[in-house]
Amino acid sequence: MTAPTRRIGSLTVSPLGLGAMPLSQGRGEPAPHERAMATIHATLDAGVTFLDTADIYAPSWDTMGHNEKIVAEGLRSWDGDRSSVVLATKGGITRSAEGGGRDGSATYLRAALEKSLANLGIDSVDLYYWHRPDRSIRYAEGVEALAAFQEEGLIREIGISNANVEEIDVALEVLGEGGLAAVQNEFSPTFFHTSARELKHCGEHGIAFVPWSPLGGTGGGASAVGERFEQIQRIADAHGVSPQQVVLAWELALGDHVIPIPGASRPESITDSARAMDLELSAGDLEQLNQIIA
Ligand SMILES: NC(=O)c1ccc[n+]([C@@H]2O[C@H](COP(=O)([O-])OP(=O)(O)OC[C@H]3O[C@@H](n4cnc5c(N)ncnc54)[C@H](OP(=O)(O)O)[C@@H]3O)[C@@H](O)[C@H]2O)c1
Repeated sequence: MTAPTRRIGSLTVSPLGLGAMPLSQGRGEPAPHERAMATIHATLDAGVTFLDTADIYAPSWDTMGHNEKIVAEGLRSWDGDRSSVVLATKGGITRSAEGGGRDGSATYLRAALEKSLANLGIDSVDLYYWHRPDRSIRYAEGVEALAAFQEEGLIREIGISNANVEEIDVALEVLGEGGLAAVQNEFSPTFFHTSARELKHCGEHGIAFVPWSPLGGTGGGASAVGERFEQIQRIADAHGVSPQQVVLAWELALGDHVIPIPGASRPESITDSARAMDLELSAGDLEQLNQIIA
């Protein structure tokens, strides 16, 4: 049987991706190196072919690129077929000793992309996101920069992240229908009020919608999702699976354009999450789960 896949523009990916951020930051210390490698290898072994990183995912402001380097090393040291693996990274958030900021200027994004390519050890990245809007510039300006990178062959597909419907429409105006491959926004049972709108809008325009923190985040939301939502725990018990699998299978059922990227810093987490790709929820289950965001 052929494994199911989803589309991000011209790219084919597994229905779920790995959010690699917890390997570098989240609940304290970064994952020990051996465990980080094991987590990436377990991801790929489980048939997850979509890896999500960003230049800012790092234990400290002066180690930006940490996560990109880990992802690249994990991929290089995996003994499977790497040709179907899709890498996504992001730029446009700054970090310094004083804190964080945003810079969506063409000059900054180009320098950030060049560093990301070096960290990942590649000449062109499959999917590049503008990480967060920089309200000091016109939104179109940042999108135009991404279009230029694509034209030069530095990136294959264009994504935007933390974008509202109006910003998605600006991106579509700049790039044309079909030009914007993905929108990555926060979406989970605990966070959906604004992003349910963007999820729907993406579906109407053939844009992949990539929920970040799809389980509720590393701050305790993901681990407690079954305790917080009794219907999720009940459905999980009925299927004999974890509540996290139920959440991910439900998100996958919201549309063929939805591609959640659960984070993991341990092989066990991503191996469990990946099973959601095979979990079939009944119409009754989905009805109960849909009530959460109704
Ligand atoms: N675009 C943006 O602005 C933005 C912002 C934040 C995050 N992101 C991306 O989104 C990805 C996912 O978000 P996230 O990592 O913040 O939150 P998340 O996916 O909601 O939760 C990740 C946490 O869930 C745990 N977990 C995962 N699968 C599990 C399972 N099957 N059973 C039990 N626990 C499980 C992990 O535990 P362990 O750590 O113990 O493995 C990890 O701590 C990030 O990694 C990052 O790539 C993007």
